[in-house]
Amino acid sequence: MRTALTDLVGVRHPIVQTGMGWVAGPRLVTATARAGALGILASATMTPDQLRSAVREVKSRTDAPFGVNLRADAGDAPERVRIIVEEGVRVASFALAPSKELIAELKDAGVVVVPSVGARRHAEKVAAWGADAVIVQGGEGGGHTGEVATTVLLPQVVDAVDIPVVAAGGFHDGRGLVAALAYGAAGVAMGTRFLLTSDSTVPDAVKARYLAATAKDIILTRAVDGLPHRMLRTEMVAELEGAGRLRSLYRALRRASGFRRISGLSWPAMVRDGLAMRHGKDLSWSQVLLAANTPMLLRASMVDGRTDLGIMASGQVAALIEDLPSVAELVARILSEAETTLTTLAAESGPPGR
Ligand SMILES: Cc1cc2nc3c(=O)[nH]c(=O)nc-3n(C[C@H](O)[C@H](O)[C@H](O)COP(=O)(O)O)c2cc1C
Repeated sequence: MRTALTDLVGVRHPIVQTGMGWVAGPRLVTATARAGALGILASATMTPDQLRSAVREVKSRTDAPFGVNLRADAGDAPERVRIIVEEGVRVASFALAPSKELIAELKDAGVVVVPSVGARRHAEKVAAWGADAVIVQGGEGGGHTGEVATTVLLPQVVDAVDIPVVAAGGFHDGRGLVAALAYGAAGVAMGTRFLLTSDSTVPDAVKARYLAATAKDIILTRAVDGLPHRMLRTEMVAELEGAGRLRSLYRALRRASGFRRISGLSWPAMVRDGLAMRHGKDLSWSQVLLAANTPMLLRASMVDGRTDLGIMASGQVAALIEDLPSVAELVARILSEAETTLTTLAAESGPPGR
C-alpha cells in the first residue's frame, strides 16, 4: 500500500509504531522495521548514551528505516538531535512541538521531521515551520493526550495542512487503516496495539492487565501530573483521584521517596523537574512531585511489572485487543484486513455507471 508516508520515509507499509517510554526499545523497533512499518524508539526515558547504543543496536539488526522520539523541551535535546544526525536516523518524532530552528537543523541533515500534535493549531504551526508530516493523536489515544476524538480532529487537521497527516488514537486493525485513509490520512500510528505484541518487552502480568481491560477501565485523568493522561484505572489512580490535597501530598511524598532510591533524583532536583513540567498550570505539590516521577511511575509497570505501584498508560483501544501477536503477524493481518475491507467496499458500491 503506497501513500505519501511510505514515499516520504521509505517504508513498505503506511503503519507507524509510536515512541512509548520504556516500551519502544530496540527489540520492538527492530521487529517493526523488519515487518516493513516505521518503528520509533522512545528516547525520553533513555540517557543520551543509552539512546546512541539503542540506535546502533537497531542498525546492527536491520537496514530498514526507523525513527527516534524525543522531547523538544528537554535540556539535552540538542545532544539528542546530534546523535540522530550522526547516526543517520531517518525520522525524528516529537512529543511536543519542536522549534523552527530545531526543525531546520534536522531537515538540513536530511532527517524527516514528524511531530505529534493534538490540536489543529499545533499542526498548522509545525507545518508552517517546515515539518515534513504530522502524527495527529485524538483523545482516545494512550499516554498524554487531548480531549478531541480522532474522528473530529483528523479531518480537521487533514483539511488544514498540506503535509502528510498520520492518524493516531484508537487504531488497531485494517478497517481502521482504511478509515484513516478515507479521511485523507497517509497512514496510521499505533501505540497500545504495538505494546500488546509478543515482541514488546513489557512484562506478561502487565500485558494481562491491558488485555482484561474494558472501555470503562481506561480513563483520562489529570490526577498524576496535572496533564490529561490516558491510562488504566488502577487502585493507585483511583486513590489519587479521590484523595484530598493533604492525603495526596502524604502519598506522593511516600511514593517519591521510594522512587528517589531508584532514580537517584535529589529532592531539590525532583521539585525543580516537577515545577518545570507545570507549564503554567496550577498544580498541587503532590502533582509537582508525581510529575517529576512520571517516567519512574511508568517504568515501575513497563519494566518491573509492578502493576500496584506503576501507571499503565493506555489507549481506549485496549478494550478491543484480545491477543498478543508478533509484530510481523500484526502488520500482515492489518494489511490483509485492509485489502478485504477495500474489496468489500468496491463490490458493494458496484462497477462505475451501474
Ligand atoms: C505506555 C505508553 C507510553 C507512551 N509514551 C510516549 C512517549 O514517551 N512519547 C510520546 O510522544 N508518546 C507516548 N505515548 C503516546 C503514543 O506514542 C501514541 O501516540 C498513542 O499511544 C497512540 O494512541 P493508541 O494508544 O490509541 O494507539 C505513549 C503511549 C503509551 C500507551
